[in-house]
Amino acid sequence: MPPKKLYIKTFGCQMNVYDSERIAHLLAAKNYHLVENPSEADLVFLNTCSVREKPEQKVYSALGRLRVLKKKKSKMIIGIGGCLAQQEGEALLQRFPHVDFVVGTKEISRIAELLNDLEAFGKRGLAVNLNGRLDPYATLPFSLPSSSTVVAFVSIMQGCDNFCSFCIVPYVRGREVSRASQEILKEIQSLASQGVKEVTLLGQNVNSYGQTSPGDLDFVELLKAVQEIAGIERIRFTTSHPQDLSTPLIKAFGKFPKLCEHIHLPLQSGSARILQRMNRSYSPGFYLEKIRDLRQSCPGISVTTDMIVGFPGEEEEDFHASMEMIEKVQFDDLFSFKYSDRPGTRATLFNEKVPEGIAQRRLVELQALQRKITWKRNKAWEGKDVEVLVEGRSKANPEENMGRTRTNHIVNFPGKTLASGSIVQLRIQKAYAHSLRGEEIL
Ligand code: SAH
Ligand code: SF4
Ligand code: F3S
Repeated sequence: MPPKKLYIKTFGCQMNVYDSERIAHLLAAKNYHLVENPSEADLVFLNTCSVREKPEQKVYSALGRLRVLKKKKSKMIIGIGGCLAQQEGEALLQRFPHVDFVVGTKEISRIAELLNDLEAFGKRGLAVNLNGRLDPYATLPFSLPSSSTVVAFVSIMQGCDNFCSFCIVPYVRGREVSRASQEILKEIQSLASQGVKEVTLLGQNVNSYGQTSPGDLDFVELLKAVQEIAGIERIRFTTSHPQDLSTPLIKAFGKFPKLCEHIHLPLQSGSARILQRMNRSYSPGFYLEKIRDLRQSCPGISVTTDMIVGFPGEEEEDFHASMEMIEKVQFDDLFSFKYSDRPGTRATLFNEKVPEGIAQRRLVELQALQRKITWKRNKAWEGKDVEVLVEGRSKANPEENMGRTRTNHIVNFPGKTLASGSIVQLRIQKAYAHSLRGEEIL
């Protein structure tokens, strides 16, 4: 049988990137191989996100384009997975007659079965069960790194029990469940044997890793075990909830040589009142203490964060408290979002919605402040020597190599093509808004 063509479009966060890799690997066993263009595909799979209104709209636009494409290619199969699939379930099948199957975040392993039913009986499929603390990855083959990748994601847990009042994730990814440590370690060993040099361990709240299955490793023990795997040179993880950022984890940054000096620690708001309404369970003061401890344990650690503006009830003084926190912490970079209502979350019930115009103005102001700080912090790298893991050629200039520092800064540098995965020492010559430029130290 000739191989069939699969196109996967991934929306949303790194978890979805990881899931897409596992889905591609699962479907490879059904004779599907990846293509770059939906118009040549036999199967188009959208791995969706519903964390905010914008990513959700992107999915609906893509579905609109696929309707047009399917008119020309009536045999094309369209499948939807990920968080929007989990959220909307059967409604997607009803609303979009050109969609053939919908699969939830914990039912990935049933995609092959849904395809079989479709091929054999022409039956449109739906599998969106979310119950229990079952590990959705347990029955899947490990992911393979895509062609030349030297960096890979590995999910170590699924779901979230925190129920921040704005967040859909607990409803679409289910209750928190950790993967078995041995499975994770075997998967990383397999990635390492295929040339992967850097792994990012993924979870909504990695620091509570392992707490659901007694006898397994805890997060710091898991980091230690990954540290022992030959071939892996760098370890990262995301995301950590400030409330659960333990002292042993903070100390690990100064202790484990492979653990990179970067942490993504979402703050969301600088106002104690808003944090409380967000159900974030820490105060701005507590967050600052964590930052102080991190910088003490690991001087030079880079810190990035997520911020929301326009959360229901956010007054001008709350917004200023966010701006003040940004000044105080001096983040290396941040992701900022305008609050949007998510179905079923507590915050949708809160009155005092912030008008769009005000939220937009706050977003612009916040981003302008961070741009200045990022610029200043990037400037401070000029003249410094850094270790860079080469990931390939630079996107902007194919004459140059691109890699990342341990602090997760992108560096472009001239010179002969270096193999992806090489580790080089560079001196930073110049800082830009979003990247650095270096030269090899010979
Ligand atoms: N698990 C991570 C974040 C997951 S979602 C954590 O604990 O922080 C990624 C980011 O999207 C969040 O950090 C938050 O800043 C943003 N976000 C989530 N829901 C949102 C909403 N309803 N409106 C605006 N931003 C939101
Ligand atoms: Fe969402 Fe909060 Fe869980 Fe992060 S910790 S995924 S923001 S509920
Ligand atoms: Fe989006 Fe789901 Fe990730 S909602 S941000 S894809 S966990």
